[in-house]
Amino acid sequence: MSDLAGKHIVLGLSGGVACYKAAEFCRGLVKAGATVQVVMTEAAEHFITPVTMQALSGRTVYSSQWDAREGNNMPHINLSREADAIVIAPASADFMARLVHGRADDLLSLLCLARPRERVPLLVAPAMNREMYAHPATQRNLAQLRADGTVVLGVGAGEQACGETGDGRMLEPDELLYEVVRHFQPKVLSGRHVLITAGPTFEAIDPVRGLTNRSSGKMGFALARAAHEAGAQVTLVAGPVALPTPRGVQRVDVMSAQDMQRAVQASADAADVFIAAAAVADWRPANAAGQKIKKDGSGEVPALAFVENPDILAGVAQGARAKGGALYCVGFAAESHDLLAHAQAKRARKGVPLLVGNIGPDTFGRDDNALLLVDEGGTTELPRDGKLALARRLVAEIARRLPRG
Ligand code: CTP
Repeated sequence: MSDLAGKHIVLGLSGGVACYKAAEFCRGLVKAGATVQVVMTEAAEHFITPVTMQALSGRTVYSSQWDAREGNNMPHINLSREADAIVIAPASADFMARLVHGRADDLLSLLCLARPRERVPLLVAPAMNREMYAHPATQRNLAQLRADGTVVLGVGAGEQACGETGDGRMLEPDELLYEVVRHFQPKVLSGRHVLITAGPTFEAIDPVRGLTNRSSGKMGFALARAAHEAGAQVTLVAGPVALPTPRGVQRVDVMSAQDMQRAVQASADAADVFIAAAAVADWRPANAAGQKIKKDGSGEVPALAFVENPDILAGVAQGARAKGGALYCVGFAAESHDLLAHAQAKRARKGVPLLVGNIGPDTFGRDDNALLLVDEGGTTELPRDGKLALARRLVAEIARRLPRG
């Protein structure tokens, strides 16, 4: 993935045990395609050496405002002008206090003060003991940093290096990387609530057997991530899949189509967009057995009868129309042939403004896909790409079609 291709990040380290995580974070930024210039405070150098950070970033580390390497002797100006973002990880309590006061007596705080604010965002990842984090002075500083336009990332909870347990750990390297990638995504769904279904459903035959399908949930999960990156509040109703929950997304796990319908109905009223990416079972066994069905040795096979599941998407779309159509509904169609004709027919049958067609056998379980969007204006092709890249494009297409919020 090259989510940060072409981006130049100044990665600032202030003093804290969490400097060990900054090493892996730096590696993640580079792997995501960014160029990284590391700047360290003197305190940070007590926790990790510049040699390590130089090796991982592929650039010599800066730590002094008197660094004579710069022709004009102004590293604070040069480094801050080159950056697409400055990320301080870890940001110690002391370093944030310095930012709040506009202190400029070391290179890192100096370049934060000197950065062109309208063009170079500053992101800080706090890292400290739980008492220090909860202290009113720190909380005041965090509020002031936000008011000054700094993006203050969250903290993790759990065991701390000091042996205590609570809030204040620095986010993990993959969480930091996600936050940086998210920062650069256009906020086309800001202020919107997006409800998404994903994955297969599981229809019980008895307590140990059931009917399901090959949907991996990857497309729906990628859409949840993309919608969150785009600034939306996201609720993800997921059938049984073993995928990690995208950061910042509220996940509701369900098994059957009926469970999924209940979970969707509970959130639909608050949503602005409903994306039905789940592969919902069309039928379920009419009478699921309460106990495991046993072979009795006679060679007779159990006769299964089926009933139709509720159509979640069609029901939600119908309800939305009845309420004046404020909820924008998007359906998916997984077909094996005649994609356009089936997608058009399904769009009409489900009563939704946008239907997204894909070829099922070409996408189930894979990391890539190709989509065909069908709406009242015609068709739009999103050619084969990774599911996250496609999800971002689809989110942008949906955002363009929404009434202004
Ligand atoms: N869907 C749903 N509830 C169902 C069945 C489908 O919400 N009980 C949604 C899916 O999430 C998808 C769309 O409807 O967004 C299309 O589902 P699909 O199963 O492909 O369509 P069907 O109506 O079942 O048509 P067919 O099986 O004939 O292709």
